[in-house]
Amino acid sequence: TSTKNNTMWSYWTYFAKGIEYTLIITIAGVFFGFILGTFLSLMRLSESKLLHSVAVCYIEFVRGTPLMVQVMFVYFGIGAVIQSLPALTAGIIAVSLNSAAYIAEVIRSGIESIPVGQTEAARSLGMSKQETYRYVVIPQALKNIWPALGNEFVTLIKESSIVSIIGVSDLMYQTQLVQSATYKGVLPLFIAMLIYFVMTFGLSKLLNLFERKLNHG
Ligand code: ARG
Repeated sequence: TSTKNNTMWSYWTYFAKGIEYTLIITIAGVFFGFILGTFLSLMRLSESKLLHSVAVCYIEFVRGTPLMVQVMFVYFGIGAVIQSLPALTAGIIAVSLNSAAYIAEVIRSGIESIPVGQTEAARSLGMSKQETYRYVVIPQALKNIWPALGNEFVTLIKESSIVSIIGVSDLMYQTQLVQSATYKGVLPLFIAMLIYFVMTFGLSKLLNLFERKLNHG
């Protein structure tokens, strides 16, 4: 009935706030994850045994433990040292640290997909190792990894819902507030699912569009 609809509609600000925080965490996660992931992938590919091992250990450990535990570990762990660490900050740190491990592997496979001939040609033209990486390998690799980075973005929209357990007011947390306020268990969840789906599906479509443009241009 219309009263029922009115009840849910009157909570739209709750969902709006949740969407805002979910997007903040996702965007920050991909951004910082990309920066740290770039370093990790270069470390993993470096000739230094030490740097290589540190990167491998980090990547395997982060990918081999649940994001839920990582989120709680960062929140309570850093929170024990730094008094009153905001939950949002902890959430962003944890999601970024997690995403970096996955992005590192994306970048590594992107770099490894560039034929050795490219490097050999650049080196024989007198470019240094660093110049070759910077001007020949990385730009081509970036073009290749774009779709996988987009996937990571979509993944984080969904996976970031776990930060609700430390009290970050993301979409899942806000949904729980609506549940308690309305005494309705299912409808708020259904709305949350629809919102998540619109965000992930819409983003995938958008990314596909960019990808097609990239391939044509
Ligand atoms: N549910 C997964 C876990 O707990 C999340 C993995 C995050 N994935 C990612 N591509 N950042 O491990």
